[in-house]
Amino acid sequence: MRRLHDLETPVVLVDLGVLDRNIARMAESARSRSVRLRPHAKTHKVLEIGRRQVEAGAAGLSVAKTSEAEVFAEAGFDDLFVAYPVVGADKARRLLALAERLRRLAVGVDSVEGAATLAGVFREANRVLDVMLKVDVGLQRVGVLPERARETAGRLADLPGLRLRGIFTHAGQGYHEERPEGVTAVARHEGSTMAAVADELRRAGIAVEEVSVGSTPTARAAMAQPGVTECRPGNYVYHDGSQVALGTCAREDCALTVLATVVSVPAPDRAVVDAGSKTLSSDPLRPRPGGYGQIDGRRSRIQRLSEEHGVIDVEGGDTFRVGERVRILPNHACVVSNLHDRLFGVRDEAVEAEWRVDARGRVF
Ligand SMILES: Cc1ncc(COP(=O)(O)O)c(C=O)c1O
Repeated sequence: MRRLHDLETPVVLVDLGVLDRNIARMAESARSRSVRLRPHAKTHKVLEIGRRQVEAGAAGLSVAKTSEAEVFAEAGFDDLFVAYPVVGADKARRLLALAERLRRLAVGVDSVEGAATLAGVFREANRVLDVMLKVDVGLQRVGVLPERARETAGRLADLPGLRLRGIFTHAGQGYHEERPEGVTAVARHEGSTMAAVADELRRAGIAVEEVSVGSTPTARAAMAQPGVTECRPGNYVYHDGSQVALGTCAREDCALTVLATVVSVPAPDRAVVDAGSKTLSSDPLRPRPGGYGQIDGRRSRIQRLSEEHGVIDVEGGDTFRVGERVRILPNHACVVSNLHDRLFGVRDEAVEAEWRVDARGRVF
């Protein structure tokens, strides 16, 4: 069996014990609240990790792109939700092909205009596509405001070729909360607002089967709100430096790290590793900026990045020597996964698995 020292750097490691524990814990959180778990597979894009999520009880997977759905469908996953406002007849034709082979398929919409571009293709084929209306509970990215949901949902429900399955949201604004109480407040607002919107739609005679929430920091508190039926956390399988800083988890709950080599120590206060933005991404630490990666067992962080270089500001008491290997906890694990062709599953020093990042780079 290969050992860690057999791997060339920079390389992405996934601690298999931590991964399986994270998967099991979130599955149990959902089960104990009788909420369906539909993890967001954009975090890992790895078929084997999706399989582990489904085996642990996930009802199906969420993906961000039609092309990601194609990769998971090809591998036999049969219940997928494209959690993104999909627009265009070209996408609709591919969704039609997917609908033929999947047991269940749904896509996000946030406008009647966008939904109409999908409806035409399905209506002509005499098929019906399930859609979920995206509601904006504060992220201010996509989605209709809660007070506009009834009008849009009513018009969507009237479009032949579509069936409104329910409503969904992503409270990504939780990533900017500086205190755990702030994150919890965002989560409660996420769940209760969605439940209230669903009630309003039902009172207006619009059927709402699914009320879907989900981000990793808000997942547990949001799914505890009465009326929520589904949760879609993604990052929880890996966690990362931002989740630790937000108080979502502890360092020992982080499954994904980058193994890198110190390639230069040009000054006493500076060391450089072979992992730059092409490996770690340049995503900032949330909720407050704080470098680009934390070095395990040291106080020092990577404070500057260029594509191939990660520059560590050496803190007092830390030392680095050329040739040594360090484990780095990245700020945002999802983008790291997307930057790499493969990941290595490890247990302590043993390398037990090598996984392709199967849906990586699927941008359309
Ligand atoms: C629509 C949607 N749902 C769910 C998620 C999962 O959130 P997280 O990665 O915080 O778990 C995301 C992440 O960006 C998202 O955009």
